Amino acid sequence: MLFKQQAWLRQKLLVLGSLAVGSLLYLVARVGSLDRLQPICPIEGRFGARGQAEFPLRALQFKRGLLHEFRKGNSSKEQVHLQDLVQQLPKAIIIGVRKGGTRALLEMLNLHPAVVKASQEIHFFDNDENYAKGIEWYRKKMPFSYPQQITIEKSPAYFITEEVPERIYKMNSSIKLLIIVREPTTRAISDYTQVLEGKERKNKTYYKFEKLAIDPNTCEVNTKYKAVRTSIYTKHLERWLKYFPIEQFHIVDGDRLITEPLPELQLVEKFLNLPPRISQYNLYFNATRGFYCLRFNIIFNKCLAGSKGRIHPEVDPSVITKLRKFFHPFNQKFYQITGRTLNWP
Ligand code: A3P
Repeated sequence: MLFKQQAWLRQKLLVLGSLAVGSLLYLVARVGSLDRLQPICPIEGRFGARGQAEFPLRALQFKRGLLHEFRKGNSSKEQVHLQDLVQQLPKAIIIGVRKGGTRALLEMLNLHPAVVKASQEIHFFDNDENYAKGIEWYRKKMPFSYPQQITIEKSPAYFITEEVPERIYKMNSSIKLLIIVREPTTRAISDYTQVLEGKERKNKTYYKFEKLAIDPNTCEVNTKYKAVRTSIYTKHLERWLKYFPIEQFHIVDGDRLITEPLPELQLVEKFLNLPPRISQYNLYFNATRGFYCLRFNIIFNKCLAGSKGRIHPEVDPSVITKLRKFFHPFNQKFYQITGRTLNWP
């Protein structure tokens, strides 16, 4: 009898204990997110039709949680507020560059309560089949957001695809364009590494980087190799400048985003006319990954997928030197056009 009573008591204590821990965790998570979202700052002009628009506290606080509940569609009281949610065309696009750190940039910007990311690469403007489906198809691919928030998508192929600038211009001639670049030779090797991994997964062999990057007949840099061509940033940018003034672009230093993300993100906040909300609290260095990871609150944090931050194969130093020499004049032109000097060799 006594044994039975003890077991019953133990069970009760266990249930009460779980409830207490659960509530505590919930409170901590909530306080964590509110702490980040509390002071409401005005957002300057360009995005809101009414100029200085205040962010409603609700829109900021419930950015993530309510979207989830919206889909579940449970309480009618919440539905009233949630009806404000809309699928908006992007006000800013990360147009490239492939392997520049486009995913990291999008995920980090999404820490900002006024930013809502399109999770997938939509490939609307660079894919003729998708483009033929029309702008409504594109809009329907966007996540739900409040009108005061801005949607951002990233499709790195946009930067190098000929038709894209005109197509984006036709959608919104005053859109903001983000380009994240890395030192061109490193980016080209990263690009190669991604392709190599794909080949290896299919049990295929592939050429060495040196063989692709250097023309064996001339011993010069092989500009027909896509990974090299993509890294000639100025050539691609010049095509975009036929449609958009340079003021509509912001260059993100992808190498610095790896080592010191906050100042880069603060520059983007400024460019997007967003109140500064991303803080050091939201970014922590994960020694195992060797990269910064994202902290939403005391409980929720995440690192990028393992496909980001691959180990690059070793490349012949003389090939690296040759490539760096090749890119040098293009880099100078890129600095001159963009007004952003990067410390590339
Ligand atoms: P590597 O895999 O060559 O290291 P993209 O998202 O455009 O494909 O870019 C991938 C690159 O983002 C990675 O290239 C990695 O270096 C870089 N990167 C920047 N910040 C990162 C982060 N916090 N976590 C993982 N990768 C990051």
